[in-house]
Amino acid sequence: MILVTGGAGFIGSNFVLDWLGQPDGVAPNPEPLINLDALTYAGNLENLAGLKGDSRHIFVHGSIGDLDLITRLLAEYQPRAVINFAAESHVDRSIHGPEDFIQTNIVGTFHLLEAARSYWQDLDPERKDHFRFLHVSTDEVYGSLAKDDPAFAETNRYEPNSPYSASKAASDHLVRAYHHTYGLPVLTTNCSNNYGPYHFPEKLIPLVIHNALAGKPLPIYGDGQQIRDWLYVKDHCAAIRRVLEAGKLGEVYNIGGWNEKANLDVVHTLCAILDELSPRADGHSYRTQITFVTDRPGHDRRYAIDSTKLERELGWKPAETFETGIRKTVLWYLDNQAWVNNVTSGAYRDWLGKQYGETA
Ligand code: NAD
Ligand code: TYD
Repeated sequence: MILVTGGAGFIGSNFVLDWLGQPDGVAPNPEPLINLDALTYAGNLENLAGLKGDSRHIFVHGSIGDLDLITRLLAEYQPRAVINFAAESHVDRSIHGPEDFIQTNIVGTFHLLEAARSYWQDLDPERKDHFRFLHVSTDEVYGSLAKDDPAFAETNRYEPNSPYSASKAASDHLVRAYHHTYGLPVLTTNCSNNYGPYHFPEKLIPLVIHNALAGKPLPIYGDGQQIRDWLYVKDHCAAIRRVLEAGKLGEVYNIGGWNEKANLDVVHTLCAILDELSPRADGHSYRTQITFVTDRPGHDRRYAIDSTKLERELGWKPAETFETGIRKTVLWYLDNQAWVNNVTSGAYRDWLGKQYGETA
């Protein structure tokens, strides 16, 4: 079995569902999975409702910062791998309050590494050989690119600019150090921006879909010309499975979909798809809801990932183009309005007030 952390969040829950062969007709995987998640505002067990009663999914409510708990889980379940998705992940929240990012992304990862190290050291030689610690990270650790710079390669310098990316960078360094110093069999992946089902509507794509349908402004930070490199979440999950299976120990793999888009273009694409699939009652385009708002402080201008290494060495390729993936995503949100309504209540509403001055 494997231990997954943060498996109730956006990418983690997609990974858990795909691992266990649900719901897209992927062959069922008999290998069970322990899912450790602290259920912060971003963790949602509803994402995993389809696994109710499935004995292959063992959910544990707890933090990666809880050394005793992780030590107990590793001893009890003897997993062959740990995959660390758990993190605070939203740049804007890290600007308003970095503390949780330091605690979870840095201190939490450190505790997880410590527990994994002592567990791994005591395994018998064969199990020790096969054990893997896979750390899921982001392209944001490499900083910001100018318009004509080549895309980020694994050899790029780390130049994180936000408290979020700095905390992820620190965790990547710890993972690297545990390999070099203690020999822990680690793998690190640095992925570009994901989108797809179960994406919490505080991030650009789900926020725009949600606000459009709710008749609210579609907030564009600054001039909207910042570039992100978008990857459909299921392609990210497939890449992680491939790296777990065949990645070289101690190596870093960049994951991206070669889909650089300016934010304003992404929002225009979303409006066009919504105009077609769920037109406004008054016949106007959703584009009329676009509103330019104050830019994010320290806003990175451009991210782009060069995933040649992963493609060449491990044979991974994304299955979706941006056009196919974004359409699937809009359809998912249209079909899952109840999910959206549930997550947009409570804590999420307080956040909207802080970030956009909403009172509703
Ligand atoms: P998310 O915010 O949607 O989910 C994070 C999950 O971690 C939640 O379920 C939350 O409850 C859980 N969590 C938070 N603190 C925890 C703790 N201390 N212990 C246990 N669980 C905890 O994030 P996401 O978008 O799914 O990102 C998952 C991982 O992928 C993160 O490490 C992130 O840095 C990385 N990543 C994300 C993207 C992206 O575009 N979303 C891109 C590249 C890399
Ligand atoms: P986001 O989804 O927060 O991901 P990240 O900051 O990790 O790339 O933001 C994606 C881009 O969209 C980023 O350049 C910021 C921008 N953005 C807006 O213009 N308006 C918004 O309301 C949000 C949430 C993001």
